[in-house]
Amino acid sequence: MDLNDFRNRINEIDKQIIELFVERMRIAAKIAEAKAAQNLPILDSSREKAVLRHVKEKAGKEFKDYAETLYQTMFNVSKSYQSELMAVKTPLTPEITAGNYGKKNHIKLLVINGPNINMLGIREKNIYGNETYDALLQLLEKTFQEINVRGEVFQSNSEGALVERIQDAYSDGTDGIIINPAAYTHTSVAILDALKAVSLPAVEVHISNVTKREAFRQVSYAGMACVKTIAGMGFHGYVEAVHFLADYIASQADEKRKTI
Ligand code: DQA
Repeated sequence: MDLNDFRNRINEIDKQIIELFVERMRIAAKIAEAKAAQNLPILDSSREKAVLRHVKEKAGKEFKDYAETLYQTMFNVSKSYQSELMAVKTPLTPEITAGNYGKKNHIKLLVINGPNINMLGIREKNIYGNETYDALLQLLEKTFQEINVRGEVFQSNSEGALVERIQDAYSDGTDGIIINPAAYTHTSVAILDALKAVSLPAVEVHISNVTKREAFRQVSYAGMACVKTIAGMGFHGYVEAVHFLADYIASQADEKRKTI
């Protein structure tokens, strides 16, 4: 085989890959619709883990890390597509709006994003994807509306501003915080202390799978004050966080009512 033959072969492979990718996305859309109809979350982390194990085994020692990155990215791409579809195309049934989710009407969630999250769509697309920060804001807005919660999103590149926003949450009616402290995750005791100070239920979100990245990303100070961490699910992680936190707050309120 000469260089041209190799090029032709790689072109053929790329054509097959894109055809399979399109088919995969269409199936993902059907799964999203079916899950939305049953009010189930998109996430199926045990299936993903099993697929990743298989992929790494098949790719062998030489390619296992590359194959893992490829699949993580593909999972993220299809999950953000699914969450977009679910938010746009699947209106909640009246029973759900009036029933379970109706109770959440009064809940107020605050989403806080740290440094460089405003650069989404520009920064390290291989890690954070092509979608912009505006697209994330739109997705969050749809998600708030979908489950009838009040939501606010705040972003800052400065540690002090993030600490101040968390402090303000103590007295502005916020019921829970979703936070992606970005790089400050791994350095900021001040953000950890602020979360502890206001003592509101908080969920930590990371777009990328920090557990599989550099050693310095393995510590999360903010995470120590959070009831849950969601990482590596792309934008969909925020959607999961909103659902989780709204349920968490609603069930805590139910518990309180029972005790009183
Ligand atoms: C991040 C991960 C952090 O390690 C990094 O510094 C970020 C984004 C994420 O969402 O994956 O800026 O929080």
